Amino acid sequence: MIHPIDIILAKRDGYELTTEQIQHLVRTVVLYGEQQLAAQRGETLQPLAATDRITEGQLGSFLMAVFQRGLSLRETADLTTAMRYSGETFHTKPLKTFSVDKHSTGGVGDKTSLLIAPIVAAAGLEGTPSISVPMISGRALGHTGGTLDKLETIPGFDTQLSLPQMMEVLRECHAVLVGQTPRLVPADRILYAMRDHTGTVESQFLICASIMSKKLAEDLDGLVLDVKVGSGAFMPTYAQSKSLAELMVSTGERSGTRTAALLTTMDEPLGRFSGNWLEVWECVDILQGKRHAMSADLIALSNALSGWMLYLAGKSASPEAGAQLADELLLSGAAYKSWLQIVAAHGGDTSIFANPAAFHKSTAQRVFSASRDGYLTSMDCKEVGWAVQRLGAGRTKPGAPISPHAGIESHAKLGDRLSPGQPIFTLYVEDESLLDEPYRMLQAAVTIGDIKPNPKPLIREVITGDNRR
Ligand code: URA
Repeated sequence: MIHPIDIILAKRDGYELTTEQIQHLVRTVVLYGEQQLAAQRGETLQPLAATDRITEGQLGSFLMAVFQRGLSLRETADLTTAMRYSGETFHTKPLKTFSVDKHSTGGVGDKTSLLIAPIVAAAGLEGTPSISVPMISGRALGHTGGTLDKLETIPGFDTQLSLPQMMEVLRECHAVLVGQTPRLVPADRILYAMRDHTGTVESQFLICASIMSKKLAEDLDGLVLDVKVGSGAFMPTYAQSKSLAELMVSTGERSGTRTAALLTTMDEPLGRFSGNWLEVWECVDILQGKRHAMSADLIALSNALSGWMLYLAGKSASPEAGAQLADELLLSGAAYKSWLQIVAAHGGDTSIFANPAAFHKSTAQRVFSASRDGYLTSMDCKEVGWAVQRLGAGRTKPGAPISPHAGIESHAKLGDRLSPGQPIFTLYVEDESLLDEPYRMLQAAVTIGDIKPNPKPLIREVITGDNRR
């Protein structure tokens, strides 16, 4: 008999868990989620056996034990597999397309999924091979934003589709963007939300299991990972980000999915806006062909990641040629056409894209400006991310609502020359009482100095199964 408490004690004391213990733990997580949902509906399910019952406290405790003790390669693989099969999985093979996806380890203003899905879907519409992008994303996690929260700011957009609905959208639009549901990777749905409020996000083992369980449940032929490095990354050092990238690439390759990881710089918010609706607005502008100078890094990274996806799918001779194709699809309006189709298929109201600025409904704003002249030398990007969350863009507890229109606008990038009083950020809120703390956090996060910093390249290194490149 396996009891959850014995698994917690074993991990707390530094023992390697058996495959059975891990499978059992994941089963209890799913049962916990079912009980929670039933309680929300006012129903009572059959009481669980003591061995199957895990409490919220025990879940937090298990996560903290893993966070502190780590997992072996075998334990990580077991956790990933148990989470992958914790519910239903996609079967994309009947579509006879190359199924490919991208996932990021999480960043600030990191909204590339909103551009990549329509870019690659647009490429998949023409010629062979046909491509599909079955994207399972997440919500805000720690200091980072989440694709689902962003998409759900579009009135009507449903991220909780059933499997048959997902397949229908995928068949029609070549891309679908959904979340973990009580039926699709339900274990990640619970653990992800629990990690967000128990200080257990920044574990390479938990990140690997969370990301790879979702991605492998998509039945992918190819996967591109955007693994962040720098002050806004979950992993505190370059070496740890690289080790996470290698762990995920080998997990993907061992499961038969061609996997590439790009180590990319996250030392400042990506693009112009950080915050849920604000990020959708920025992407709609780009999809409509408007290129704000602050969005240049976002466009470059989205094209590079799309380029790798198109290369893995056999649509381009190299990732660089793929990036070029991605840019052409953006500029020609083909990606925007795909975006409109995808949003409509999810029930979203596309009429708001006619004037995205008019849909932005913050009720108060404050400008944070340079206190002196000099160069924007460095930023504690994680702290900037927390400031965005505290403006209301993130959750205070699992399931709590987010503020769609809260966030920041960046007016300067690292290395820019600033004069006193020049705006660096505009803060937007829907609740004015939330402005003060994030404002102080931003003040502490930004350094202005006399020496121009050397810009770091956006893409630092690429890791593939055979490290060909
Ligand atoms: N994205 C995920 O899906 N999970 C993590 O743990 C981090 C980023």
